[in-house]
Order: sequence, then structure tokens, then C-alpha cells
Amino acid sequence: MKTAVCYYSRHHGNTLKVLRAMAQEGEIDLIDVTARRAVHLEEYDCVGLASGIYGFAFEKSVLEFARRYLPAGKPVFFVYTYGVAKGEGAKSPAAIAGEKGCPILGEFSCRGYDTFGPLRLVGGIAKGRPDTGELESARSFFRGLKKRLEQGNTP
Ligand SMILES: Cc1cc2nc3c(=O)[nH]c(=O)nc-3n(C[C@H](O)[C@H](O)[C@H](O)COP(=O)(O)O)c2cc1C
Repeated sequence: MKTAVCYYSRHHGNTLKVLRAMAQEGEIDLIDVTARRAVHLEEYDCVGLASGIYGFAFEKSVLEFARRYLPAGKPVFFVYTYGVAKGEGAKSPAAIAGEKGCPILGEFSCRGYDTFGPLRLVGGIAKGRPDTGELESARSFFRGLKKRLEQGNTP
């Protein structure tokens, strides 16, 4: 099963850490949405959209990327990390998937080290996150998703 994950991970690379753990479980191409390379998402069996949560929401460049390149009907999943609270979580990418008729396979999220703004003064929060347990949960999430897709068991 060929998977692409289109991501933005700038604060501490927390989201990328989660994606790299998932990539140990199968063939995943990690596509940085800011890298401006040509993409052909139609070649993949499923597509992940991934981001840190910034200002209570998914990063806008991931959403723009999805609006532009996500093929209609492609199975999708969402991955995000957050410091304290998920905010709206995957609501915006889910809306885009809905508009394009893409079945949603699921989402994985966990906390990520956060030193944004005044938090830096206290050494940040969620230090050490994602931790080894969360990375194992991420691998397990992707294993499950892969199995369901390979069995044709999509929503
Ligand atoms: C500009 C900015 C805004 C953020 N806003 C939120 C937020 O609204 N809620 C939250 O829980 N964490 C927030 N965070 C923390 C990040 O979501 C968290 O550190 C995340 O793991 C970053 O992912 P990344 O390292 O992949 O970029 C913010 C961080 C930054 C830099």
C-alpha cells in the first residue's frame, strides 16, 4: 500500500517525529508542503494530512495544499500534535475531504513539546512528547489503517 503524507512541522518537528514512526510500518512518502516539489497524489492508495496545531487549528498551508492537490475520492487520514489543547483538531481538513468525497480512515493525535510565546520562559510544556508510548501508538494506528485498507474495509 503506497501512502503519501503531506505535512507541516516547524515548531520542534514533533509531528514529523510521529510520521517517521508511522513510516517504519510501511511505504510512506513524506511530503513537506512548503518544499514546492511536483506531487502526484493520484499515484497513492491513501493520503495523510499532518500538522502541528497553531492558533487552535491545522496549518493553513496544509489545507491549501489539500484543496489544490488532494484527488477526489482518495481515502485520507489526519495526524496532528498539540501542546495543550487540540483546538479544532482535524475539523478543517475533514471539511475539505468531505467536499472532495474522500473517505476518512481516521486520525491520530498526541501532545508535542511546546515553547510557543511565554511558555519558553518556563522551559516549555509537554517536554519529551511525543514519547515512546505515543510513537508506538502512532505505529499501531498506521498498522491498523493499512490492514483495513488492504482488506478493502473503508468507510
Ligand atoms: C505559533 C504557534 C501556535 C501554537 N498554537 C497552539 C494551540 O493553539 N494549541 C496548542 O495546544 N498548541 C499550540 N502550539 C504548540 C504546538 O501545537 C505543538 O508544539 C506542536 O507539537 C508543534 O508541532 P510541530 O513541532 O510539528 O510544528 C502552538 C505553537 C506555535 C509555534
